[in-house]
Amino acid sequence: MLVVPTRAEFRRVLEAERRAGRSIGLVPTMGALHAGHRSLLEAARRDCDVVALTIFVNPLQFAAGEDLSAYPRTLERDLELAAEVGTTVVFTPSDVEMYPMPTLTTVHVDGLTATMEGAARPTHFDGVTTVVTKLFNLAGACRAYFGEKDYQQLAVVTRMAADLDQPVTVVPCPILREADGLALSSRNVYLSAEDRAAAPVLHRALRDAADAVAGGERDARALIGLVSTRLGAEPRAALEYVAVVDASSLEPLTELLPGVAARVILTARFGSTRLLDNIGVVAP
Ligand code: PAF
Repeated sequence: MLVVPTRAEFRRVLEAERRAGRSIGLVPTMGALHAGHRSLLEAARRDCDVVALTIFVNPLQFAAGEDLSAYPRTLERDLELAAEVGTTVVFTPSDVEMYPMPTLTTVHVDGLTATMEGAARPTHFDGVTTVVTKLFNLAGACRAYFGEKDYQQLAVVTRMAADLDQPVTVVPCPILREADGLALSSRNVYLSAEDRAAAPVLHRALRDAADAVAGGERDARALIGLVSTRLGAEPRAALEYVAVVDASSLEPLTELLPGVAARVILTARFGSTRLLDNIGVVAP
């Protein structure tokens, strides 16, 4: 496994692989890898000849006062996990390597970024789409693997790649969960023992919403009410938002139409830790 800290080397390695006729699977991450990231690497390993992992805690997607300096950094363990899965190359740039000059150019995806995480963190998605565009430009033609846990991010990146004709196929990968239902996230390490014990309420509330849809509920407001009530009963959870949206446009829905994929998406705080989760629903 090659570990390369410079943009030039990363580009060179992947260009050589492509020239040799090998396909590239790209897995962009901020490190602190867990089983969710492992499943992205495994999917890339299954589909592609070469697996390229990137580890970069992107300052551009954190606002002042967010957890940039506290963000977990576990490079040694990350490299062990990457090697176990058969990763070919790991890109580990420094901040200066990634942004040698102050960035004057930003990639902005309109519409999809206006709600939910985009409303709660107004500069976040421009940071994500700018760094992901840089990574796509360095990696070249590839398949890129993103988890459904950050569902809005997945939708935004997929639309960006289509709008800008980036030579990248974005591959969605399912959410991985702990046995009690908590979605795997690098931020779970911030949870106190009490908050960790309470956090599976998110998945239970989402499951309740999915069960209600399976049982015939079509009214988005009723689903939002159900999830809010469920979370309201857990004193450690502070719900920030819950939305019922079209699965591809992310447009808020008032009513679920039979056979049309929708997503129930929420964010809640446990102490100072924000957790995101979501579930796919289709009205019968
Ligand atoms: O999902 C993440 O870890 C980050 O937002 C990403 C896509 C690696 C961009 O920094």
